[in-house]
Amino acid sequence: MVHLTADDDRAGLSLCGALMALAALLFVWPGGPVGAQEAGSQAAAAQELERALTLEPDIENGLTIYRSCATCHQPEGWGLPDGSYPQLAGQHKQVVIKQLADIRAGVRGNAEMLPWASAEKIGGAQAVADVAGYIDTLELSVAGGKGPGTDLERGASLYAATCARCHGAEGEGDGPRYVPRIQSQHYAYLLRQFQSVRDGKRGNADPEMASHVKGISDSDARAILDHVSRLEPPEAFQAPPGWRNPDFPR
Ligand code: HEC
Ligand code: HEC
Repeated sequence: MVHLTADDDRAGLSLCGALMALAALLFVWPGGPVGAQEAGSQAAAAQELERALTLEPDIENGLTIYRSCATCHQPEGWGLPDGSYPQLAGQHKQVVIKQLADIRAGVRGNAEMLPWASAEKIGGAQAVADVAGYIDTLELSVAGGKGPGTDLERGASLYAATCARCHGAEGEGDGPRYVPRIQSQHYAYLLRQFQSVRDGKRGNADPEMASHVKGISDSDARAILDHVSRLEPPEAFQAPPGWRNPDFPR
């Protein structure tokens, strides 16, 4: 049996105080190292991303998993034009995997989707690879939600000046660098994500993008994203109009 002396006790308390101060410092450090819990989630997301990227997808199991995703993202993977659910079809596989891993680890908040996509519900990194592999077979729709169409020229020139260097001239993104394809994505979803990155509310925002877009007003953002929602990939990359996913007989 060990008896703590008064001195030991005090040493213990001050060590505890120092650790608490350090933890507090980590949590408030502006733009610097993140808090311990957040860093843990980020490490978990990065680890799952790295693993899922190297795993061979089982497309059949991917479809089995995707059946539950289709409740919101729709059988064709086109989401909904009101932007409540984003289009996933045509998105770079690396981006789908990264966003899924970030959402599963809580780095990108998405309380509505989490119960459907958690490790408990669908499985680990292999499941992520499988469902991303299935999503990769779906082709993009260009018939999504668009903006009001009133300020497209200004939107196009602001896009070229501020966004194209990362997202590409046509909004095609860059899979290996995890830059999302944003062309033909639903306008309302784009606007919501943009504002959430700009206002520091999207946990997994790209820090370089966030600092680039800080001063962009809502009216400029609307013009830019209206333009983006109308950008299209080459025709060969688009789903035929009116296509229905035969994996979901209706
Ligand atoms: C209950 C509805 C719902 C279900 C079911 C659902 N999601 Fe989502 N998902 C959402 C919503 C809502 C968003 C956008 C959240 C936001 O606005 O930040 C989203 C976003 C995403 C994104 C990020 C897209 C992007 O462009 O960044 C991916 C990837 C994704 N979901 C994949 C899946 C997969 C895979 C499944 C099935 C395992 C699934 N989702 C099931 C609602 C759902
Ligand atoms: C420095 C490079 C960079 C610049 C500049 C940039 N972005 Fe991004 N953007 C990114 C990256 C990287 C992501 C994905 C971050 C992540 O991993 O979640 C992203 C995400 C987004 C998303 C979310 C897409 C989705 O599917 O959820 C939107 C919308 C967006 N950017 C719009 C813009 C607009 C509009 C501009 C110009 C005003 C812009 N970005 C400038 C790199 C950039």
